Amino acid sequence: MRRLHSTSVICVTHSPVIGFIGTGHIATFHSKMLKISGVNLVRGGCYDIDVARSEAFAKASGSTVMSSEQEVINSSDAVYICTWTSEHQRLADMCIAAGKPFFCEKPLSVDFTHALTMNAQASASGLTHQCGLILRRSPAYLWARELITDPKAGAVMSVVFRDDQFIPIQGHYKSTWRGDVEKAGAGTLLEHSIHDVDMLRFLIGEVESVSARATYKHGIEGIEDCVAASVQFANGAVGTLTTIWHDNLSRPSLRHVEVFCEHRTVIIAADDWFGPVTWSDTDGATGSLEGTELTERTAPLAMKDANPDGAFVRCVVDGEAAFPAFDIALEAHRIVEAMYRSARNSGNSVDVKSVTE
Ligand SMILES: NC(=O)c1ccc[n+]([C@@H]2O[C@H](COP(=O)([O-])OP(=O)(O)OC[C@H]3O[C@@H](n4cnc5c(N)ncnc54)[C@H](O)[C@@H]3O)[C@@H](O)[C@H]2O)c1
Repeated sequence: MRRLHSTSVICVTHSPVIGFIGTGHIATFHSKMLKISGVNLVRGGCYDIDVARSEAFAKASGSTVMSSEQEVINSSDAVYICTWTSEHQRLADMCIAAGKPFFCEKPLSVDFTHALTMNAQASASGLTHQCGLILRRSPAYLWARELITDPKAGAVMSVVFRDDQFIPIQGHYKSTWRGDVEKAGAGTLLEHSIHDVDMLRFLIGEVESVSARATYKHGIEGIEDCVAASVQFANGAVGTLTTIWHDNLSRPSLRHVEVFCEHRTVIIAADDWFGPVTWSDTDGATGSLEGTELTERTAPLAMKDANPDGAFVRCVVDGEAAFPAFDIALEAHRIVEAMYRSARNSGNSVDVKSVTE
């Protein structure tokens, strides 16, 4: 789990009542980020089908264990949906029916079709809603984007994006649902690297077409453990995404991103939140930014608040649209689906715009 940072402490004066449905790893992360933002969870409720989990969450966060999803929704001003993926849509529907703002984890759903419906319903509801694509506020990616879009860099030519982690059905995750296609939808690309696909759009631009191959070395039905995709961007750039779920538990989850512009190379290595982000230019200029310096420099670039949870709660309090909303997640789902269609069709190129249902 990502280390917490406290560079964006805010004080939400009229703290809304926040409820949690699903109280595992990511719910714990959000509860800590909310605490950093000054949001007190003591008035909120939580529910998990695994009672031991909700009790542990309540003890750690100050929240109160409730007996049903509906009880959490009824008693909250805003709801975090942190269950495994297949439950997201039903719970988002319940929040919409109750008129309650919601934060829903990524991926939105187990497939593109359901994500399409979720986005349409969330947009139509007019309710404040946010998805869990938290890298949209990562200092490392925010700074890399500044460097790439700087006119001095010239046009972006290529990106090499690599993401590897041990398959999370083992190790400290011990996540059995990630090995169940009914609950997770698919493997490393949808479940984990939807973040990476979103970052490809964020850093480089719209994706026009993709060609991809997938492997299933672990032999789990529907759960691919490696996808290698070649990407054509609308602005003429080309790139690759390789995402792997391996068995090397001694290795932390790592992303490594290299972007080649006409006159600048930008690299995000080691820690894709706190950097370092390094760059070198045709004229010999080089630079590197990390840690506090990086977070301070990029804080004004984050929408509303550098803390994703602080940003969500601020929007709930102000009754405003939150960012990233489901429409951003839907576009990542569309590209992911194009990659799966290509992989099922021997790596043939798939036009992303052709993915409409
Ligand atoms: N944004 C991110 O960086 C990020 C990181 C990790 C996980 N996630 C996403 O968050 C979601 C949860 O992942 P996790 O790692 O926390 O998994 P987890 O297994 O740690 O927690 C999921 C919890 O949901 C509970 N649950 C399932 N159905 C439920 C229901 N109907 N009502 C109440 N509780 C229910 C389970 O009992 C479990 O405790 C997944 O969709 C995952 O993809 C996002």
